Amino acid sequence: MDVESTTALPADTDADTVVVGILDGEGVAHDVDGALQGLLDSGEAKSRHRHLAVTHAGAKRWVLVGLGRRSELDPERMRVAAACALGRARELGARSVCFELPHDVDADLAAAIVEGSLLFAYRYERFKAPPKEPREHVDALLLSAHDDLSEVVREASIVARAVNAARDLQNAPPNECAPRHLADAARALATEVEGVRVEVEGRMGLQQRGMGAFAAVAQGSDEEPALITLRYEGPDASGPLLGLVGKAVTFDTGGISIKPANKMSEMKFDMSGGAAVLGAVEAIARLRLPVRLIAVVGATENMPSGHAARPGDIVRASNDLTIEIINTDAEGRMVLADCLAHAVAEGAERLVDIATLTGSIITALGNTHAGIFGDDDDWVAQVTAAGTTAGELVWRLPLHADYAKWTESETADLINANENRKAGSIVAAQFLQRFTGDVPWAHLDIAGMAWGTGKAYAPKGGNGFGVRLFVELARSLSK
Ligand code: BES
Ligand code: ZN
Ligand code: ZN
Repeated sequence: MDVESTTALPADTDADTVVVGILDGEGVAHDVDGALQGLLDSGEAKSRHRHLAVTHAGAKRWVLVGLGRRSELDPERMRVAAACALGRARELGARSVCFELPHDVDADLAAAIVEGSLLFAYRYERFKAPPKEPREHVDALLLSAHDDLSEVVREASIVARAVNAARDLQNAPPNECAPRHLADAARALATEVEGVRVEVEGRMGLQQRGMGAFAAVAQGSDEEPALITLRYEGPDASGPLLGLVGKAVTFDTGGISIKPANKMSEMKFDMSGGAAVLGAVEAIARLRLPVRLIAVVGATENMPSGHAARPGDIVRASNDLTIEIINTDAEGRMVLADCLAHAVAEGAERLVDIATLTGSIITALGNTHAGIFGDDDDWVAQVTAAGTTAGELVWRLPLHADYAKWTESETADLINANENRKAGSIVAAQFLQRFTGDVPWAHLDIAGMAWGTGKAYAPKGGNGFGVRLFVELARSLSK
């Protein structure tokens, strides 16, 4: 879908369909012979958020979408409204849609229209035969406003397209999306986007770096693991070196502690943290944000086999801590352990990791908030605020010495799981903390947010959660 902005009135554009937002207690700004106001007066169109009404006037189709009260209108409500309106327009056969921005609103609402539309329009159809009847498809989106919003629209498109790129990685089947697929995506970024450098290491690299925790997960699989390190430095970059670390288990069978068959195919999404990191690097670099970034993606399968790690094995991580593996399905923290230590060793001054780490976080927070954990209140607050701005909500859970006890092993420095299963997400975070040195760190557990949240602008499958949060975080660091 092509996206552009215009200062022309919607009626004067060549769009076949116009979307007009209706705010509570406010009339229609630019009417066509009273047709739109008439629809509102008759009660067929309403200001209730997401409400839809359709009419035809002046050789165009008009979709009136409720935006609720002006005082409550925020980017998230706008994304949802845009997705709903675009959905109705598409259903009715629209090919080119013009959104009219309400008067006197902030530019972030214009960005939200673009994001909501591009994210809604995404489909993953690579493996489907072309349908006999071509599917409804909107080719062009136009944003009409009195001010020139071309820069806002350009930036929002970059962000939304990066989210969709992350979704492509998530949705790819696990036979295609092996670690090398993510490595290829990272290399493509370095070739295509100015300022991005990449390094990919395999099994040998893990061994040479002493990354025994990551290597223990990878050893059960015939697929080569990939330690992907990306660097980006924006023009006139200042501020701390931001370290982003993503879990990318391209398929999590559980290993020898194998998972039940039911819904195991969903474990192709266990690379969603890594996908979010790649999407974030893409967006941040294309936006040329003035930040310094190191991004680490730990990509591997978690498979059972004759050479897989066993429950009871003890391995040594790159920061010299030894880990007793009690459950091979608690593999994400093993991968992240070495990746976090790597980011610290490479000089990261702020850290955020992102991972589909625990089923417990879904029990705790469902599909509304990701869990956030951290030891530096200011940093946690900054990451949380970025999530709020982006419409990617996170909720803080505690760390405490009592929980850290569950990471203690009789025979090693750490144990990778507590068999009583109490406070599973927190214990996992306590484990990760041991690999973060004294760098301000936040951990995002996105197991409940990475796919299938049912949002209006998130079609089925992966939803690229985290990309927009990281972009906002980078923006906040560059201020
Ligand atoms: N990838 C899973 C976590 C997960 C579960 C993500 C469901 C999304 C949906 C992770 O590797 C895992 O298996 N975690 C275990 C840890 C346990 C063995 C301590 C879990 O959450 O059950
Ligand atoms: Zn697992
Ligand atoms: Zn996993």
